[in-house]
Formats: sequence, structure tokens, C-alpha cells
Amino acid sequence: MELRGRAGLVTGGAIRLGRAIALGLARAGADVAITYSSSADAAEETVSEIRALGRRAISLRADFSADFGPDALVTKVVGEMGRLDVLVNSAAIFEPGNWDDTTEESWDRHFAINLKAPFFLSQAFGRYVKGAVAAGEAGRRAHIVNIADWRAVRPGTDHFAYTLAKAGLVTMTQSLALALAPEIQVNAVAPGIILPPPGAGAAFIERKAALIPAQRVGSPAEVVKAVLYLLDSDFVTGDMIYVTGGEHL
Ligand SMILES: NC(=O)c1ccc[n+]([C@@H]2O[C@H](COP(=O)([O-])OP(=O)(O)OC[C@H]3O[C@@H](n4cnc5c(N)ncnc54)[C@H](OP(=O)(O)O)[C@@H]3O)[C@@H](O)[C@H]2O)c1
Repeated sequence: MELRGRAGLVTGGAIRLGRAIALGLARAGADVAITYSSSADAAEETVSEIRALGRRAISLRADFSADFGPDALVTKVVGEMGRLDVLVNSAAIFEPGNWDDTTEESWDRHFAINLKAPFFLSQAFGRYVKGAVAAGEAGRRAHIVNIADWRAVRPGTDHFAYTLAKAGLVTMTQSLALALAPEIQVNAVAPGIILPPPGAGAAFIERKAALIPAQRVGSPAEVVKAVLYLLDSDFVTGDMIYVTGGEHL
């Protein structure tokens, strides 16, 4: 799909990977809406950078751990942008928890932010796109890209709630690819170590890099390239690209 003249919504687009994806969409020609929860200042900076590229941009506050109103959010983006063609579900939390110390509270927050919000946003987006097609926009195309994690398919014994919610996201990618075809392609990107957790220093990166076949961690630009490939394709759906340097093997 040609992104010029199209509009995308990137959740968690204010900072880090979500921000890189939002800017990547804008550089490819799309107008971009981002959501943020706590990073209000960073959201404004990302919006300014997108506008400096000559694209339209807005930021919307949405706390996915609460009832955030997915239909109203999609309606608001369409109202501001005139259309919506791409949904990137990137916002997520990543908190530790083993089998015996994962709390119900942590479980509920991971599943709300990392799985429930992407599903109900996809539902709202799907209703909007299918509605546009039913209203006469034959041939309309759209994409959902879910930012997953390779841990979802090669689970370990740590980060239980995170891993299980991401595993749900991978299955959701396949189910929605079937349910929303042919108008909407639904794919995922599974990053490896791209940006270390805030506060992790050079020693963390060196230690992790030694465990990766590529012998280095990845970069946000490599994730953005994978997202843009999926958006460019008119035929790939229900699939997931690993951007891990081989770590998932
Ligand atoms: N970083 C990596 O190397 C890596 C590796 C594998 C997979 N991933 C996946 O890639 C995606 C982005 O990763 P990242 O490291 O850039 O994430 P991050 O730095 O942890 O940022 C998390 C994002 O999620 C948003 N968020 C957190 N709680 C929220 C809530 N309650 N409601 C709405 N939004 C909320 C944050 O928004 P605010 O800041 O506005 O609160 C922020 O934009 C995630 O899906 C992650 O699982 C990342």
C-alpha cells in the first residue's frame, strides 16, 4: 500500500520504538496520530517532528489499563485526519514475574495493555474500514501491525504475564487476518533486543549481544523497515517478521 496520502495510528508513539515507527510512517508519506499515556511532553515533541516532515499529526491521551473508549478514539482520529488506513499496536508494558511471584494485578495490567487494548482497537478499526467499504469505497485497503516479541513463541520462565499476553497477540494476529480479509491485512513484527530497558547500561547490552547470533542488539530503524515492508505488501497477511539477529532461533 502506498503510504502517501494515507493516515496511521501508532499506539505508544511518543517514545522509543513507537516513536520510531510513527516517524517512519511519516517519512514514508503518511499522516500520523499517536497515543500516549504518561509521556505528554514526548508526545508533543513527536507530533512536532512529524509536522516538520510536512505531515499532519495529532496526539491523543489513552490509558489502556482503564476503559479508554476504542471506538471513540478511532472516530476522533478519523475526524481529525479525514481517514485511517493503518493501525500499529505498539504500546505495551514489560514487567518481570515468574510462575510463583506473578501477581493478579500484574497479570490484569499486562493483559489489558498488551492484549485487550490491541484487540478492541483492532475491532474499532475493522468496523470503521469495513463500514467505509460497505458505504461504497470498494477496493479500500488497510493494515494492522502488532508489535509482538519473539518470547511469545519461544517462552522462557521469566516475564510470565508479558509473554502470555504477547502469545495472545500473535494468535490474535492470525485470527484477525482471517476475520478481516480481504480488506485488512493483519501482521506482526517480533523484535529481539532493540532498546534495552530504561536504566540498563552498556554492560547489559554487551552481555546480551554475546547471546545473539548476530552478536549485536538491533536498532529501531530495523524494526521500522519490517513494519514498512508489511505495509507495502498487498499479499502478506497473518504473518510475523522476526527482527532479532537470530536470537529467536
Ligand atoms: N524495546 C525492545 O527492545 C523490545 C523488544 C521486544 C518487543 N518490544 C515491543 O515493542 C513495543 C515497544 O517497545 P518499547 O521498548 O519502545 O516500549 P516502552 O519503552 O516500554 O514504551 C511503552 C509504551 O507503551 C505505552 N504504555 C505503557 N503503559 C500504557 C498504558 N497504561 N496505556 C497506554 N499506553 C501505555 C507507553 O506510553 P507512555 O510513555 O505515554 O506512558 C509507551 O509509549 C512493545 O510492544 C514491546 O513489547 C520491544
